[in-house]
Amino acid sequence: MEKQIVCLPGDGIGPEIMQSAKRILTTIGEYFHHQFTFNEYAIGGDSIERFGIPLTDETVEACKRADAVLLGAVGGPQWDTLPADIRPEKGLLKIRKDLMLFANLRPIKGFSPLLHASPLKEEIIKDSDILIVRELTSGLYFGKPSERRDGGNVVVDTLYYERHEIERIVEKAFQFAQMRRKHLTSVDKANVLESSKLWREIVNEKRNEYPDVKVDHLYVDAASMKLITNPSQFDVIVTENMFGDILSDEASVLTGSLGLLPSASVRSDSFGLYEPIHGSAPDIAGKGVANPIGMILSAAFMLRSSFQMEEEAQVIEEAVNETLLQGYHTPDLPLENGITVGTEQLTNIILGKLRAAKPIGYSRNV
Ligand code: NAD
Ligand code: IPM
Ligand code: MN
Repeated sequence: MEKQIVCLPGDGIGPEIMQSAKRILTTIGEYFHHQFTFNEYAIGGDSIERFGIPLTDETVEACKRADAVLLGAVGGPQWDTLPADIRPEKGLLKIRKDLMLFANLRPIKGFSPLLHASPLKEEIIKDSDILIVRELTSGLYFGKPSERRDGGNVVVDTLYYERHEIERIVEKAFQFAQMRRKHLTSVDKANVLESSKLWREIVNEKRNEYPDVKVDHLYVDAASMKLITNPSQFDVIVTENMFGDILSDEASVLTGSLGLLPSASVRSDSFGLYEPIHGSAPDIAGKGVANPIGMILSAAFMLRSSFQMEEEAQVIEEAVNETLLQGYHTPDLPLENGITVGTEQLTNIILGKLRAAKPIGYSRNV
């Protein structure tokens, strides 16, 4: 198959981990006889430096023409004092909105070789396998007005939802629950927020269409506690944009590092934008130590979800697992008996595993 992939490396560790993902995809392409073409465009601080704005029309148009998009991360302290509208993060919000990617899927599953890498007890995390379905193009991040008034001393952000925006994300979450363990937890703050009351009403309406799915409602404060005290009670979690952002970083603790987790931002067709859930990690950028696994697994997610390349995705995931099993890891993982390596070295080891796995079915698409 031929696929056009737009790469948006972005800032900080973004370009470092993007390089890893491209190397992995190139090797997979060779083995499975796919032609992946990578076209690189600017976003975030990188785009601000080159074009004065965090996202250009050229980048948006290129993404629209592509079969899928890979994104590293955006942001950094050098741009933190810019006005809100031209900050790097605005570029990220705009690309999600312009591409209509309303559902952000964040799977959180412990890696068996890393069960002891989490600060949480092994018996608490060992059976956890959660999919956070985060609403991505509305809610508190996009509501208007969002501004300062009266010389900056009065501020307003708006949590705005339209019924159809909640319906489509809730439907998506029900569909994933049906494909998994048939348990949906909707997380809101319906004891306080109007938006959450409507959210809860819609979940209760929709549950009639999915009678095989068990539904729970949790307030976000309690959910954040249960996520780390009893994570195995969750299957699919569906929630508002900002709640989902916060809960997914929290949930990453189950796996041992924020640097391990991939995500897919999708809509109703097979198009998607794939990015790790972490940020640009300015504290370690340029040092060659970033964990590339969240980015590499995002590339695998892309193969599976946008290109229907299940086997290819699995080969990557197995190579990552195998690498971790042998104790190789970047410094973000506090493993006592492991072997600490940098980004490039870890990528080389994963590539080695991919090559070694060659016999298990690399002729399918010849
Ligand atoms: P962050 O996710 O960048 O970093 C949090 C901590 O996790 C840091 O200590 C960092 O070193 C570590 N970390 C993150 N990813 C890692 C990886 N792959 N390997 C090893 N360690 C890793 O969050 P932050 O520090 O709060 O934000 C930094 C910048 O990133 C900000 O400008 C923020 O707006 C931006 N950000 C961007 C995205 C995105 O592009 N999707 C997501 C979150 C934050
Ligand atoms: C993420 C990030 C972004 C978000 C920021 C950088 C706008 O934290 O992708 O999780 O909050 O969506
Ligand atoms: Mn986040």
